[in-house]
Amino acid sequence: MTVTCEDVSMVYRPSGRGQAIQALDHITLTVREHEFVAIVGPSGCGKSTLLKLISGFERPTAGKISVNGEVVTGPGADRAMVFQHPALYPWLTVAENVAFGLKLKGVSRRDINRRVDYFLERIGLLAFREARPYELSGGMQQRVAIARALIVEPSIVLMDEPFGALDAQTRGSMQDFLLELWNDMKAAVVFVTHDVTEAILLGDRIVVMDPHPGTIRHQEMISLDRPRQTSIEFSDTFASVRRHMAELSSWSTTGKSAS
Ligand SMILES: Nc1ncnc2c1ncn2[C@@H]1O[C@H](COP(=O)(O)OP(=O)(O)OP(=O)(O)O)[C@@H](O)[C@H]1O
Ligand SMILES: [Mg+2]
Repeated sequence: MTVTCEDVSMVYRPSGRGQAIQALDHITLTVREHEFVAIVGPSGCGKSTLLKLISGFERPTAGKISVNGEVVTGPGADRAMVFQHPALYPWLTVAENVAFGLKLKGVSRRDINRRVDYFLERIGLLAFREARPYELSGGMQQRVAIARALIVEPSIVLMDEPFGALDAQTRGSMQDFLLELWNDMKAAVVFVTHDVTEAILLGDRIVVMDPHPGTIRHQEMISLDRPRQTSIEFSDTFASVRRHMAELSSWSTTGKSAS
């Protein structure tokens, strides 16, 4: 399953007398099967817009987005989205939240229970099966949101700064958790982050964007060995990749490369 964005532009036209905003300008990008693509760029460069277009929640003003050759015309079960704030249903239990997509698909109750328990075990929350979201910490809630997205076996998982609101320690364990899960699944991931270190740790490829209008400045393959764990951040190889990426992804006040 591949995702292609061909010459994609997006102009928002606010209602009233506001000026049109060109959020994305001629974006061309391919995400291959089981590839982990990390997108970095300053605020307002169109990262969330690009995810919304791939998810089908918004339509581009020009260009074409396709998943496995089929043009995206709206949301579909093949694409799952995870947001910065885990939008769980507060009135449902943890198990019911995770089961939500499977129920919509009409999966039998027995299969749902089996798969929900497998995922709850994987995310370490089996004991919280019957708890409500408000009883969980932010990191626990985000694990539930990730399980809810992955349980339907999407071909592509779109993640918009999913760990951005977590403290450093929880964030590290969530990164390890995501790498472990991704290792066992076939899905491709498009992961938006402000944090270049996080992008290097997770990504097979990093896409660096520029703002006003949103364009792709650079793409870099990250050839660090897999499987990876957050502990590699202390290695010399990682440090040299980080130095290199810091140069490639520095933003001056004009939004262009500092060099
Ligand atoms: N629904 C909308 N209506 C009008 N303008 C919008 C809308 N969504 C985004 N924009 C504009 O498009 C541009 C890109 O926004 P977007 O949210 O995609 O950026 P981003 O890279 O995700 O930023 P951040 O890192 O702050 O999340 C911004 O100038 C923003 O104001
Ligand atoms: Mg955003």
